[in-house]
Amino acid sequence: MHRRLIAPGALAASLLLAIPASAAGASPGAPGIGDPYYPAYGNGGYDVSHYDLRLKYQPRTDELEGTATLLATTTQDLSRFDLDFLLDVSEVRVNGAKASFATSGQHELEITPARPLAKGTPVTVVVRYSGVPSTKTAYGFSTWHRTPDGAVAADEPEAAWWWYPSNDHPRDKATYDVSVSVPDGTQAISNGTLQSTSSRLGWTRYNWRSNKPQATYLTTLAVGKFDLTTGTTSDGVPVVNAYSKDLGDNEGAARASVERTAEITDWLTGYFGPYPFNSVGGYVPNTTTGYALETQTRVFYSPRQFAGGSNTSVVVHELAHQWYGDSVSLAGWKDIWINEGFARYAQWLWSEHEGEGTAQELADYVYASHPADDAFWTVAPGDPGPEHQFDIAVYDRGALAVQALRNEVGDDAFFAVLKGWPKQFAYGNASVDDFRKYAEKVSGASLGSLFDTWLYQPSKPGAPAARDAVIARDARTKGAEGAPARPRSWKKIAATDSVH
Ligand code: ARG
Ligand code: ZN
Repeated sequence: MHRRLIAPGALAASLLLAIPASAAGASPGAPGIGDPYYPAYGNGGYDVSHYDLRLKYQPRTDELEGTATLLATTTQDLSRFDLDFLLDVSEVRVNGAKASFATSGQHELEITPARPLAKGTPVTVVVRYSGVPSTKTAYGFSTWHRTPDGAVAADEPEAAWWWYPSNDHPRDKATYDVSVSVPDGTQAISNGTLQSTSSRLGWTRYNWRSNKPQATYLTTLAVGKFDLTTGTTSDGVPVVNAYSKDLGDNEGAARASVERTAEITDWLTGYFGPYPFNSVGGYVPNTTTGYALETQTRVFYSPRQFAGGSNTSVVVHELAHQWYGDSVSLAGWKDIWINEGFARYAQWLWSEHEGEGTAQELADYVYASHPADDAFWTVAPGDPGPEHQFDIAVYDRGALAVQALRNEVGDDAFFAVLKGWPKQFAYGNASVDDFRKYAEKVSGASLGSLFDTWLYQPSKPGAPAARDAVIARDARTKGAEGAPARPRSWKKIAATDSVH
């Protein structure tokens, strides 16, 4: 696509060397992207902009075959690079030419192109593969979930290895075309919009497109027998939901909850700003696994989320992630609080909206229900460690931290931050530190000690001060010294509307 003018001398030199002179000192890309929680996840040396997955899946035998075409750009001179993948590869091409490949580690596919790749150049990687995902494990586990009529790929942080080769880390987001051929009568569900379907020789192909940057773990695939429903939000975003035809007793509660997706998206828009994607919805497959996941534009819900009755709260949680987690993704896995603390806090706001307890009441309740010697307080939501990444403390203590922030800066600044953050870092990545700096900028408050207390100390903080008490305290301490008492700059920010 992009052709460069090459000076005659350089051309001669590169012909003599048979490799571009600039890639002569090329070295292998790192086998991990550099996340301390998961050192082997993702890879170094390139950045993917688009995945095109053309797949065929047979539910009866769990056989998956496909071709993945990745559009990437090199970020160093590369003699070799890795993808993260578990299925059996039959051919790899890099920029059209056959490349050699080998497996290493738990989930590395090492690709050696025929010629080294120069830094900063576009590269097209085609991987042909097949396999039975349920037979593959890494680190002794699998997150590929077979169902009676198909399978589901939806997990965090690991989901991609079982169905497509990738640079498996949220720091490398890309757009996706996912095309899946399944036996007639079976559906394939993925992210974004259903561009087209076609049927021939007993197989139906579903072509899905997700056209905003999307993290690998937020890319989902479900094959099975589904009923689809459609609608639109009041901003005109199309809604597509899918329900397994085999949900048994949970069907009514699942539909009564997930069918409120448009209403809940509208409601969240009031707090977080415009919905960031061009499609929204969820799917409920007939899986026995228990959790839900904020897969981008198309949330995965286990039927077990509805076993106790309708559950709009989980819908709020997963849709809140579309802003907090999906559009703005974590920079590293240690930043999980930005995802889970805010998705949980959205549930508290929903509870308030539904007349089932205010956010402050829920915060007081959670705070009181964990005594100081409860292990709950030993988990630091700001850096919980990989073993505690999805502990309840990341969610509940995480939401307590959000309430503490709200009480510290006041409602005007707090809600300006809540809405400004998804805009400031839309479609990108950000860390807890970025969040603190952003909240400090918007509120004018210095938040280092508040964040330390609520996100990093392995102990129960002192009782959270309600806003009135904070104002009174500041009036006493700072007002007495002649400094202006809070509330102060957050009013200015709200007035100048710099973050909306
Ligand atoms: N982010 C998911 C949520 O909505 C949690 C997924 C946890 N992963 C798992 N395999 N249980 O809270
Ligand atoms: Zn969550």
